[in-house]
Amino acid sequence: MGTAPLTAENLGFRYAGTPVLHGVNLRVEPASMLAVTGPNGSGKSTLLHLLAGVVRPSEGVVRRAPATRVALLPQRTGDIDALPLTVAECVRIGTFTPSRLLPRRTRQDRAATADVMDRLEIAHLARRRLRELSGGQRQRTLLAQAFVQQADVYVLDEPTAALDTRTRRHVHDLLRDRVRAGAAVIIASHDHDEASLAAHTLTLGTATPNPPAGR
Ligand SMILES: Nc1ncnc2c1ncn2[C@@H]1O[C@H](COP(=O)(O)OP(=O)(O)OP(=O)(O)O)[C@@H](O)[C@H]1O
Ligand SMILES: [Mg+2]
Repeated sequence: MGTAPLTAENLGFRYAGTPVLHGVNLRVEPASMLAVTGPNGSGKSTLLHLLAGVVRPSEGVVRRAPATRVALLPQRTGDIDALPLTVAECVRIGTFTPSRLLPRRTRQDRAATADVMDRLEIAHLARRRLRELSGGQRQRTLLAQAFVQQADVYVLDEPTAALDTRTRRHVHDLLRDRVRAGAAVIIASHDHDEASLAAHTLTLGTATPNPPAGR
């Protein structure tokens, strides 16, 4: 078995003292897909943020192999609508890296961006501003920004929740392509068919106990 790009040991998280996750262990292999499922409020988004490194654990540790590149598509991305970005600009941001901010665009970047925008059917929206898009068009744009990243691990939080059936299929094809190319994918989903694309599933516990019957 090769080096795992991402592992988590005994991971726990509390929001202001309220426990959300406890004792989570996982190992993400290259060329593999992990689905994270569980009811609303069970901690899927929290776990994905911990794995992507944007939030620090309250307990345990997340280890990323050296030089591992992680692309994160959060579930909630409302704030970026305040920026006067076009679709093309928003997607292009995915090609930036810490050492290549506002880089000269390579032919490879252009080809990768054009391919992803075509596959997600947003090429015709390239000059539109984000706030002028429908919910699904906006989500496709953010997915394109994630997929143009040359990442080792794609962390995608309910990526197809706002998408029509046809676009959902395109996203699943892109996921399979990235896995075939050697990347790891971690996807939170409420959709059984989507979760079954993954070889492994981590199901988080019930957040809110059911009320007693008869009330
Ligand atoms: N910033 C926050 N401050 C306090 N509590 C929070 C915060 N964000 C989330 N929570 C709580 O943490 C728990 C887990 O939330 P999280 O967003 O990780 O769940 P989820 O499984 O992604 O849910 P969903 O299916 O609705 O997306 C919930 O009980 C939620 O109310
Ligand atoms: Mg969530």
